[in-house]
Amino acid sequence: MLNWDHIFATRSSRMRASEIRELLKLLERPDIISFAGGIPDPALFPDEAFKTAYADIFSGDQVGAALQYSVSEGYKPLREWLRGEMEKLGIPCTIDNIFITSGSQQALDYLGKLFLSPKDTALVTWPTYLGALQAFNAYEPNYDQLSLSGNRTPESYKAAAEKNGGAVKFAYLSADFANPTGETVDRAGRERLLKLAEELDIAIIEDAAYQSLRYDGEPVPPILALEIAEKGSIEETRTIYSGSFSKTLAPGLRVGFVVAAMPVIRKLVLMKQAADLHSSTINQIAITHVAERHFPEQVAKIKSAYSARRDAMLKALEKYMPAGTTWTKPEGGMFVWVTLPEGMDGAELLARSVETEKVAFVPGQAFFADRSGTNTLRLSFSCANEAMIDEGIKRLGRLVGGAIAAAA
Ligand SMILES: Cc1ncc(COP(=O)(O)O)c(C=O)c1O
Repeated sequence: MLNWDHIFATRSSRMRASEIRELLKLLERPDIISFAGGIPDPALFPDEAFKTAYADIFSGDQVGAALQYSVSEGYKPLREWLRGEMEKLGIPCTIDNIFITSGSQQALDYLGKLFLSPKDTALVTWPTYLGALQAFNAYEPNYDQLSLSGNRTPESYKAAAEKNGGAVKFAYLSADFANPTGETVDRAGRERLLKLAEELDIAIIEDAAYQSLRYDGEPVPPILALEIAEKGSIEETRTIYSGSFSKTLAPGLRVGFVVAAMPVIRKLVLMKQAADLHSSTINQIAITHVAERHFPEQVAKIKSAYSARRDAMLKALEKYMPAGTTWTKPEGGMFVWVTLPEGMDGAELLARSVETEKVAFVPGQAFFADRSGTNTLRLSFSCANEAMIDEGIKRLGRLVGGAIAAAA
C-alpha cells in the first residue's frame, strides 16, 4: 500500500479518529444502558411538523427554488426569523449579521480557518467540546487554558502564545450548559471574559448550541448581548455567536447559524462560497416552516422531557454514588460531569463497565486539550428514560464503589 504520510499536508497528522468514538460504536447494543451519546432523543423530534413542511414545499410553487442553488448567506426568511429570536435574547442586529451554516460544527471549522495560523493559540476551557478541538486541530494551533475566574493575567496568556511562536486569536467556550460539564458561566464570569478579550484584543466564540435548553434557574444574558449593551452596536463587538437547530428541532437537517459583526460575516460568506456554496436550500426552508409555526411548543416539549431525566439522574447519583465522587448540577442541556477520586481512570472504568455492568458513558480525558482529566466522566441523560437512568446509575455506583474499595 502507498505510504501517504509524506503526501498528506502536515495538518492531517492531527486528524485522528477519537478512540472514544471508535469505542462508542460498539455501544449501540440493546443490552447496554448508554449515557454516552449526547444526542437528542429522536422520539422528541417534531417529525409531523417536518412532514407537513416538506409536503407544503413539494406541493407549492416553491419547489423549484427549494431544489435550486441559493445564496451563501442563507435563506432570507430564516434569517428574518432568527433576527426576531436574537432580539428577544438582547441581541439587536440586522439580517446581514446572520449567516446560515451547515450545522454549528461548520461554523467552528470556518472560525478555526479564519483565525488560526499554524502555532497561534486558541483559549479553551479545560475540559471543552471535543468537536471544537477536532475542528480547530486542522489549523495546527496551540491551546491554552481559558480561566474564567480571572486568576490569569493577559500578559501570561500573551507570553505563553509568543513562546509557542504565535499569537492568541480567540477564546472559545460554551457558556450555557456546556458540553461536557453541563455548567453555565455566570454573568460576572462573562464580564471578566469580555474584559480579558478586550485586553488581549482577541475574538470570543460563544457556542450557544444548548442555550434554549434551560430547565430552571435564571437565564444569563448571552456574552454577545452583554457586549452589545456595553458598546451600543453589534458592529463594535468582538463576540461571535454560534447557534444551532440541532438540539431544538433536528440535527439531521444540518442547519446552524452565526451572528456577528459584518467584517466577520463577510469573510464567512466567502469561505462558504469556497467550501460548499450554501447550506441545503430545502432544509433551510423546512426549518423556517417548522420554526415559524412550532418553535416555542417544541422547545417546551423537549425541556419538559429532558428536565425530568436530569432530575432522575441527579437523584440517582445522590442515591448510589459512593463518597469521594462529585458531580455537576446542570440547570439545562444534556450532561452531568462526574469527578472520581484522583488516580482513577475513566477509560479503564468504561471497559469494565461495559463488560460487567452493561453501562456506557464517555471518559472525560478526550475533552481536555492537554489530555488531563483521566478521573472524569461525562454522563448524558438525553436519551434514557427515568427507570433506565435509575438502574444505570445504580450499576455505575456499584462499579465505582468497588473500584474505590479495591484501590484503598
Ligand atoms: C457544544 C457543541 N457545539 C456544537 C455542536 C455541533 O452541533 P451541530 O453541528 O449539530 O449544530 C455540538 C454537538 O454536539 C455541541 O455539543
